[in-house]
Amino acid sequence: MIVLPTLGLSLVRAGSCIFVNQATLDLIKEREGFVSIPSPDPVGQPTVGYGHQCRVKDCGEVTEPFPLSLQSADRLLKRDIVPFAQCLAATISPHIRINSNQWGALVSWAYNVGTESIKHSSLVRRLNNGEDPERVAREELPGWDNAGGITLLGLIRRREAEVRLFGIPSNNTAHPFCTYTYL
Ligand SMILES: *[C@@H]1O[C@H](CO)[C@@H](O)[C@H](O)[C@H]1NC(C)=O
Repeated sequence: MIVLPTLGLSLVRAGSCIFVNQATLDLIKEREGFVSIPSPDPVGQPTVGYGHQCRVKDCGEVTEPFPLSLQSADRLLKRDIVPFAQCLAATISPHIRINSNQWGALVSWAYNVGTESIKHSSLVRRLNNGEDPERVAREELPGWDNAGGITLLGLIRRREAEVRLFGIPSNNTAHPFCTYTYL
């Protein structure tokens, strides 16, 4: 099954592997919240849908009409998370096995903190050193609780939700085998 990310509107189950699972989408949606028209987020960045950051004025790059429906926001989110998942897939060593819940927690984190932060994070470095992933997540994720130098309750809660998701057992491997499966 193949794949140009830009064409991949649906992220699907393939064998026992899931690109991002429903629990991940639910977590991101709940933590980002939904807005139907571009509006400032807690640090004043204009965003729309489930945390899509506007790249140009009034999110002119978004092809879906405003106000967004829940469905179009869902499509936008699924497209938006692809580069963050790809960055994780490229940054986390192929020798490290990550299950679908752990993967989802990391994608949620990455979507929130950005690709540069991922690349330079002690979280990824420790995973790549072969430390126990659950311990790494428990110790590293909570530190990512501020935006623009200000600690935000919303980010504390999000990190807690990510640590929880990370700890839910799953036999579905997401990394290194199944990260590039799109419909
Ligand atoms: C994972 O697989 C093992 C062995 O088949 C099984 O005992 C266990 O319940 C499974 N865990 C989950 C979370 O599905």
